[in-house]
Amino acid sequence: MSTKKEPISAADDGAIDQALRPTSWDEYIGQEKVKQNLRIIIEASKKRAAAMDHILFSGQAGLGKTTLAVLVARELGGPLQTTSGPALEKMGDLAAILTNLEPGAVLFIDEAHRINHLIEEVLYPAMESRKLHLMVGKGPAARSLTLDLPPFTLVAATTRESLLSQPLRSRFGAVFRLDYYAPRDIATIIARSAKILGVTIDSEAITILAAASRATPRVANRLLKRARDYAEVHSGASAIDAVSARHALELLEIDPRGLEPQDRRLLEIIITKFGGGPVGVGTLAAALGEERGAIEEIYEPYLMTLGFLQRTPSGRVALQAAYDHLGLKRPGEML
Ligand code: ADE
Repeated sequence: MSTKKEPISAADDGAIDQALRPTSWDEYIGQEKVKQNLRIIIEASKKRAAAMDHILFSGQAGLGKTTLAVLVARELGGPLQTTSGPALEKMGDLAAILTNLEPGAVLFIDEAHRINHLIEEVLYPAMESRKLHLMVGKGPAARSLTLDLPPFTLVAATTRESLLSQPLRSRFGAVFRLDYYAPRDIATIIARSAKILGVTIDSEAITILAAASRATPRVANRLLKRARDYAEVHSGASAIDAVSARHALELLEIDPRGLEPQDRRLLEIIITKFGGGPVGVGTLAAALGEERGAIEEIYEPYLMTLGFLQRTPSGRVALQAAYDHLGLKRPGEML
């Protein structure tokens, strides 16, 4: 068996994603305010030689929360232990992780809004005073046991900050909200990723892919990979131009603003079935055959940033830009 490392251009998607991840602050593009603040918190804790405050990253999927957690651990020089809210099924799961942490470790909990409430309560004293309270035994013989934990920093990430309980939220020393990226930053990320992948891409193709990337680095990298596949299959070359970028997007049914079929259906339903709204999110979910959570978490945030959709107290409303984008007219509007 060959032990030679494959070039990254020939690696599988998972390995590629890993290779595209920034490994230093300088490589991490965008989110300037978050980076500035993080660097100060990290620097200060290093100066004091104390464990850094626990921090929370909140924001849409794919905006770089995990990448930031990795960078924080790297900068602090501590090992990174990763888990997620849904992975912590039993009280013992979290207790085992906490008691096995090395001093100075960073514990990253993804999807923190999905931590079971009973398990969450184990976290409070762990975060506050590095204590782990355990119940040993059952019934009248049950006794509580308190263990000291090593100094550690909890870095949690959530796509639904509003679902985090107040007691948990209040125990973070800082909350950083990641925003959608500016088109220029997405373009820079695509250019950087193309370089790592060894793909040639012209500036027009970068602009086309960036506009369809939902202002999200993960989507940008995914579209770049698919455009590369398309270019390789259709022209046998690893060079992406405007034509292959457009064709790749068309084949994926992604429109020039990054809307996928289900995004367009959502808007069309509001416009054609509910007269443009307002329509309640529950009604919309039923008409679309989607879960309410998916609508609120995945579809709506991007449609709102495009100015296609508005959340009002009486329901969702499609805005003029959505009509224009879909080529639909308002009822009574002259053709
Ligand atoms: N890949 C994913 N997120 C990124 C970012 N913010 N900067 C550079 N590359 C990225």
